[in-house]
Amino acid sequence: MTIRSRIVGTGSYLPERIVSNAELTKTVDTSDEWIIERSGIRQRHIAADDETTADIAYQSALRALEASGVGIADIDMIVLATATPDNTFPSTATKVQAMLGMEHGAAFDVQAVCSGFIYALAVADNFIKVGQAERVMVIGAETFSRILDWQDRTTCVLFGDGGGAVVLEKSEEGDGIFSTHLHSDGRHGNLLYVDGGPSTTQTVGHLRMSGREVFRHAVVNLAAVVDETLAANNFQRSDIDWLVPHQANLRILSGTARKLGLSEDQVVITVDRHANTSAASIPLALDEAVRDGRIQKGQLVLLEAMGGGFTWGAALVRW
Ligand code: ACO
Repeated sequence: MTIRSRIVGTGSYLPERIVSNAELTKTVDTSDEWIIERSGIRQRHIAADDETTADIAYQSALRALEASGVGIADIDMIVLATATPDNTFPSTATKVQAMLGMEHGAAFDVQAVCSGFIYALAVADNFIKVGQAERVMVIGAETFSRILDWQDRTTCVLFGDGGGAVVLEKSEEGDGIFSTHLHSDGRHGNLLYVDGGPSTTQTVGHLRMSGREVFRHAVVNLAAVVDETLAANNFQRSDIDWLVPHQANLRILSGTARKLGLSEDQVVITVDRHANTSAASIPLALDEAVRDGRIQKGQLVLLEAMGGGFTWGAALVRW
């Protein structure tokens, strides 16, 4: 029997503070109508001043462990996707490892911005497939509020903070992750980037985005990677039960769903309440749909994302 990895537990965490579009209009030259019409976003969660990406990741991981019934002693590895680490080093993953009381195994960060969770899932899946790990904690956690230019209305209204995690476990039962597909094209780095860093400006920097260009590439790249993923597994678009996309913009989600011939109620949507939480958005959405009973055992679930780099990717999972 083929060895695969399957998701045996999900968890997520959102900071307590909710900031509505109306609240943003007090400090930013924008409107609730503009934000909803262009992005579908109504509110976002923002981390408390003393709350870091590691704190958010830790809470998400605890909930995923609880849901899976797996103890920390049985986790071999932590792979954490983030573009907003607590520090340049050590990795946020090792910080979370210590918070979880895990003194064995390995922990490291993966950086692919909004595609980070798909990248981290692919890394973890492959470690399990080659037999180097049996159980891996995969986390996506971000505090994008810390890298936003709150004077720039074209970006600051679009993002939020949060985290999500899954426990991946080796399976020989035919279920789990069928395949993962990763892509990048560094020629487009200047369309979505942070204008700072340790080796350039010695500052953290702020997020900069050419929104229209990103939108155009996202629609094309996501459609291509979805088709590639289905073809690799001999599935048709009509075989998909659930699409769990990276939550950047409702218009991108609706466009992708339309292209796939899926109805909007087959798409897990959280962007209206969470905004774009980068690497956290897929595990956040997944956790919501698993916990409320939408995603059921045996169903075919497609995860996809596109982010800065550009990076993009997809994963097909039999739940
Ligand atoms: N409030 C009010 N007006 C605004 C705001 C705002 N917050 N932001 C921009 N505007 C104005 C602009 O100044 C512009 O005015 P002008 O015509 O007078 O110059 C007008 O609105 C239209 O601006 P556009 O940028 O052309 O608006 P567009 O319809 O393209 O929507 C958006 C912008 C929402 C950013 C869209 O392009 C988009 O969603 N792009 C994709 C972004 C994305 O998905 N990013 C994440 C992917 S990867 C990752 O997750 C990191």
